[in-house]
Amino acid sequence: MTRRIIIDTDPGQDDAVAILLALASPPEITVEAIVACAGNVPLALTASNARKICELAGRPDIPVYAGCPGPMAARPLVTAEHVHGSTGLNGPDLPEPTMPLQPRHGVDFLIDTLRAEPRGALTLCALGPLTNIAMALIKAPDIASRIREIVLMGGGYFEGGNITPTAEFNFYVDPHAADIVFRSGVPIVMQPLDVTHRVLTTPDRLGRLRAIPTRAAAAVVAMLTFSERFDLDKYGSAGAPLHDPCVTAYLIRPELFSGRHINVEIETMSPLTIGMSVADFWRVTKRAPNALFIREVDDAGFYALLEERLARLP
Ligand code: RIB
Ligand code: CA
Repeated sequence: MTRRIIIDTDPGQDDAVAILLALASPPEITVEAIVACAGNVPLALTASNARKICELAGRPDIPVYAGCPGPMAARPLVTAEHVHGSTGLNGPDLPEPTMPLQPRHGVDFLIDTLRAEPRGALTLCALGPLTNIAMALIKAPDIASRIREIVLMGGGYFEGGNITPTAEFNFYVDPHAADIVFRSGVPIVMQPLDVTHRVLTTPDRLGRLRAIPTRAAAAVVAMLTFSERFDLDKYGSAGAPLHDPCVTAYLIRPELFSGRHINVEIETMSPLTIGMSVADFWRVTKRAPNALFIREVDDAGFYALLEERLARLP
């Protein structure tokens, strides 16, 4: 049974790989639409990058919407050009998109579509700050019971943060949105830094991707070769973490991942730790579990899946 998804994303090279993996994976996944959010780079760029990625995959039919231009509460938009480059998709030289941006606001699209589809028909895949999804939940609380599941990349606990010592980027950009999503009651599968830091694009793995004779694979190699340099310098690890594709890989082969259903709450007040995901992994509180916190991954199996699927694209 195919999983029908809407991807909310701030491309970003790792977002691009996650989207390409999804587009390469019928029948496990049907991508119904993409909603751009502000995050790695401002909204105008993420909305353009989302369309570039669809056209790279030969899928100009995928409707792409633009959501909110920044966080919900009065916080400046924090971006990550230092990682992703000035365009957010530095690396390959992709042509400007010719497919149009849909005219409706992405938040209204989410609400209208969730109300129109049968209850539980749609899964939301969140690859960036959660502003759009939280705004939709605020504007239309009735949609919470209509969402099958939110599978998201964000947060961290044992691994700490990556934009501050305690906060992961997606949750730091819009901590209030993350708080709303984790309090929504919608079933959540969380791919935190604890698992994405175990998915490292080593030189050997990059070499195997480079051997795939497709345009999409060549673009992915150029993307990852650009974005890895920041993480390699920062962590000195064997390869750069590949965050967002953990979301779509989970929907294709959930058996690659394992975790624990626990309570996760988001810090929204402290200037020191704002955006921190406080994961009660050892269940020391009586707070109700609200997320499947993924901590383990078969990283070799992940890259085998990625290689196999990228080879299916043009
Ligand atoms: O912290 C990693 C996350 O922040 C990823 O989604 C990456 O694309 C950036 O948005
Ligand atoms: Ca992202």
